[in-house]
Amino acid sequence: MANGFFSEEKLAEIRDRSSILEIVSDYVTLKKTGKNHRGLCPFHSEKTPSFMVNEEKQIFHCFGCGEGGDVFAFLMKAGNFTFPQAAEELARRYGVKLPSQDLSPSQKKEMAERETLFQINEIASNYFYDLLMRRGEGEEGRTYLAQRGISEEVISAHRVGYSTDRWDGLVRHLQEKKVSLELAAKLGLIFPKKRGEDSTQREGRRAGPAGWYDAFRGRILFPIFDVHQRIVGFGGRVIRQGQPKYLNSPESSLYHKGEILYGLHVAKRSIPEKDCVILVEGYFDLLTLHQYGLKHSVATSGTALTVQHVHTLKRYTKNIITVFDADPAGIQATLRSLPLFIEEGITGRTIALPEGEDPDGYLRKRGLEDFEKKIAGSVSLMDFFFDALMRRHDVKSIDGRISAAEEGAALVGKISDQIRRDFYLKALAERLDLQESSVREMLRSSSHPPRKGQVDLRQRLVDKDFPKSEQMVVRIMAHRPELVPVVSEERILREFESPILQKLGEELVALYQKKGKLDVAQILGSLEGDLQRRLREFLFQSDGLEGGLHEEILKDCIDKIRGSRLKKDEKELLRRIQESEERRGGEGLEALLTERQKLARREKGSWKGGLRKG
Ligand code: CTP
Ligand code: MN
Repeated sequence: MANGFFSEEKLAEIRDRSSILEIVSDYVTLKKTGKNHRGLCPFHSEKTPSFMVNEEKQIFHCFGCGEGGDVFAFLMKAGNFTFPQAAEELARRYGVKLPSQDLSPSQKKEMAERETLFQINEIASNYFYDLLMRRGEGEEGRTYLAQRGISEEVISAHRVGYSTDRWDGLVRHLQEKKVSLELAAKLGLIFPKKRGEDSTQREGRRAGPAGWYDAFRGRILFPIFDVHQRIVGFGGRVIRQGQPKYLNSPESSLYHKGEILYGLHVAKRSIPEKDCVILVEGYFDLLTLHQYGLKHSVATSGTALTVQHVHTLKRYTKNIITVFDADPAGIQATLRSLPLFIEEGITGRTIALPEGEDPDGYLRKRGLEDFEKKIAGSVSLMDFFFDALMRRHDVKSIDGRISAAEEGAALVGKISDQIRRDFYLKALAERLDLQESSVREMLRSSSHPPRKGQVDLRQRLVDKDFPKSEQMVVRIMAHRPELVPVVSEERILREFESPILQKLGEELVALYQKKGKLDVAQILGSLEGDLQRRLREFLFQSDGLEGGLHEEILKDCIDKIRGSRLKKDEKELLRRIQESEERRGGEGLEALLTERQKLARREKGSWKGGLRKG
């Protein structure tokens, strides 16, 4: 891993202490298969899992798209961390002390600031929570939540809080805690007063803000957590009249609304169990669902659903059910979500609540059983879309049906999976009572779908270009580092045909000789892209190695490699002898013949120095 901030030792320490399984599990649902864990790759679209994590070697690899590396690489790719951020996050999480002089001043500053921003959110959240749960001033907030039927258990699980009407409650609290108010303002927790606004400062004429005031006043506060249980922002609902009904933290370096899902830090444990996620729009909807035991639910926070949201959820399950409000806005939102699901290659589903209802109200009025029945009877978003299509066009007239078909075909054409595309095409034609072939024609004339994220698997197959025995030697080296000395004593790498495998093998030997062990994750970091990918592929293959007997297999492979090298050399020698006789009047023939004798000796005696036991 190229970086100039941390020593190799420090990085190794962080890597050793970290659990790649734990880190990856924050993003991907993994199932144990043999020595590895397997899941859906977070870096490309796929339906069958080809993403593998090896806990013992602390590496991951995707056989679909070729992404892979160690725990640092994973955090950088999956969590958009910079290298120092990833190192710092892991060090923090696994209790590794980082010497600060390892960092460049600007890196230090950036990391410190990020950490401080999280701390400020944490301090603010504790302040709001304390107000709600323990202070006299919090009475109104408690009453409000009680009226809405939110239990204390849910309040504490989601750290729901409250802010009074005071303009400086949080400002004072942050000052007491010696928090940088400028940074708190970056998070949207407080605002600078405009000049002259502050009545307490008579001489408020100087440049810059004369003071600060709280952003959230008289609101129930919902801290928004990321999957690492850190608070990235807040949503706040007014408890009396007042506008806006919801106030949300602004986008910041911590909070990206289009990516974060409210409640996921809790739901991520339940979604894989149920293999399903319920997606709602509101904070209260989410809390009520969780309170009723539907913990496999999440909410968008202060923004419409995005393709990143769907992508994130897809790591946990393919079964996503949207339950939006049954009002025009909610129906619009449901329809708008369909292309996002299509883009991610997922059949989203939805349920329609009675008009005017939202999940929160419906669940409280009708109870869990009723709600679960509704969920069980969910329809695919495509059917929901077709229904809307039928309503919007005058399908009694042929013109109306054609225009409905055109609109429908344009969307169906975006589905990249052919089976599903045909299925919906047929369904559309049937519903509009049109010939399937005519609708198919419309689909053809609408633009062709980009085949996003598709990878040619054959391209990735390793067997093709590398001799089997050479692969096996390298794999055995990686799997059983204690056999590395045997490989180097046998000097078999020189005989390799594949320069890539030879280089890999040499790297492994060099590293083993230097360190007395093989930290595979570390080698990965020092290798070029293609080489690195190859090695990861080997590392994750255990076929042929399951049964032990690695030394015997190794000996066998070495025999084969020598054998085929010998054949090659012989052939080449014969060619040269022939050439010398035919074209150069026997020039150099003698030397060539001597060489041939040597070769014959090599053939006979090649295993003398063979493998010793142990
Ligand atoms: N929302 C928002 N800003 C608003 C209104 C709504 O960010 N001015 C977001 C919030 O995330 C809110 C969601 O949209 O939770 C749904 O809005 P709405 O249905 O109006 O509110 P509810 O969550 O149902 O809240 P309540 O039940 O208290 O009315
Ligand atoms: Mn509501």
